[in-house]
Amino acid sequence: MDKKDSLILSFETSCDETSVAIIKNGTEILTNIVATQIKSHQRFGGVVPEVASRHHIEQITICINDALKDAGVTYDDLTGVAITYGPGLVGSLLVGITAAKTVAWAHNLPLIPVNHIAGHIYATNFEHPIEFPALALVVSGGHTELVWMPEEGEFKIIGETRDDAAGETFDKIGRVMGINYPAGPKVDELAHSGKDTFNFPRAMAKEDNFDFSFSGLKSAFINTVHHADQINEELNQADLATSFQNAVVDVLASKAMRALDKYPAKEFILAGGVAANRGIRERLTMELEKRKVPFVKAPLKLCGDNAAMIGAAAEMLQRHGAKADMSLNADPGLEFEWQANEEH
Ligand code: KG4
Ligand code: ZN
Repeated sequence: MDKKDSLILSFETSCDETSVAIIKNGTEILTNIVATQIKSHQRFGGVVPEVASRHHIEQITICINDALKDAGVTYDDLTGVAITYGPGLVGSLLVGITAAKTVAWAHNLPLIPVNHIAGHIYATNFEHPIEFPALALVVSGGHTELVWMPEEGEFKIIGETRDDAAGETFDKIGRVMGINYPAGPKVDELAHSGKDTFNFPRAMAKEDNFDFSFSGLKSAFINTVHHADQINEELNQADLATSFQNAVVDVLASKAMRALDKYPAKEFILAGGVAANRGIRERLTMELEKRKVPFVKAPLKLCGDNAAMIGAAAEMLQRHGAKADMSLNADPGLEFEWQANEEH
């Protein structure tokens, strides 16, 4: 291994995937091991934090060994250790942090703390280097955020959800439709064969800010289904999915485009688990073509939580001086330093 190369062992355990990756120079994936716990959480209809932590503990050393073996790398080859320290589930984060600190301490390697949202955005770094200024929409099971990046290393949240995250809403309405957790992919598939007949609300779409709200849509959906149950009416599942997905896509796309008017970006990035959604990809492709803004989508296999994206973000953050010591703690509510609504 060329000594000038950066070779980062990265960890991601913020939710329900235990993942360990080895990333060369921030852009090349030597390995990206992802041990998913979906099956264990399915019977509860969502992620159970205590169950998630226990799985991480069982999986983490197996994933480290698999990653080193798969990449043909030894600890001596590594130049750093990267770790997601928030936002996320505290117990889950702590398992990854403890593992990362142990490797860093035992092998005298720098420890690089990474914000999970920055990680999602940097999944696109494997496609091409981000061009700044850039605007990103990060949509996942836990997040719905518009992030303005005026230059490399700067992240500013300009809009976020006031209640449920986009992916969480997919999962919750999916449950009412009898679809297993995580429901997003199945609802997406159904949505492509139905019609938008239910006219669900587009919350806050017209308000003059970049925030989102999905709880009203979720309640409208659940009320519609419960009412139909009570009167023994059978609803068309595909039409329900299309109507729901269109409402989500309308709100996400209209807010994102309004943000783009105020924050003129060289490129628009879509990342996070919900970025796999065909409806949102198609709609944003159309809107961004009209505005002639390049559209950068996270690769499909890197939309969900994984450690490769953490390694890519870490390489950039390390160049900007990010470094943690053994006192690093989990920060479940971690935010970027700058928030649009705060005075700075
Ligand atoms: O990023 P991710 O793996 O985990 C979090 O950080 O939350 O995102 C998982 C979320 C789940 O809510 C899942 O239902 C949703 O992403 N999802 C989708 C699609 N694929 C995954 N939602 C809508 N359409 C999809 N195709
Ligand atoms: Zn995530």
